[in-house]
Amino acid sequence: TEMVSAVAPIIERWKHEEGPLLPILNGILREFGYVPREVLPAIAEALNLTRAEVYGVVSFYHDYRQNPPGRHVLKLCRAEACQATGGEAVAEKLQKLLGVRFGETAADGSVTLEPVYCLGLCACAPSAMLDGELIGRLDEERAEEIAREVRA
Ligand code: FES
Repeated sequence: TEMVSAVAPIIERWKHEEGPLLPILNGILREFGYVPREVLPAIAEALNLTRAEVYGVVSFYHDYRQNPPGRHVLKLCRAEACQATGGEAVAEKLQKLLGVRFGETAADGSVTLEPVYCLGLCACAPSAMLDGELIGRLDEERAEEIAREVRA
């Protein structure tokens, strides 16, 4: 497919290096914003890995989303400090406001919601990251602001 030929140079660039799988996946992610499922067999073949090994790595790392992201990417921290400070309630609220569950992209393509496990912002928990920008002290009000922002 087109995608497979589009990622071929990235595979080529890394396949003779040591530990090539993660650099290849990172390269694909940087270039396309996601790791299309259809390219995984080509990666497995080039690296002499089984498909299961490649699938395993891709699904282990949450950053390797397997579908094109929405216009905005919202990552909500699901780790302990954020859970202990009301993160779960905010997560519920945001999922309702945005009409997506974790790992999904809104039907209008506005936003992808992803879990993340500690953003290093525990002192300001609960935390999130919107399009690479850190947000601390999430509450219902801030959740509504975020929902308005991604819809705009
Ligand atoms: Fe959420 Fe550290 S646990 S930022």
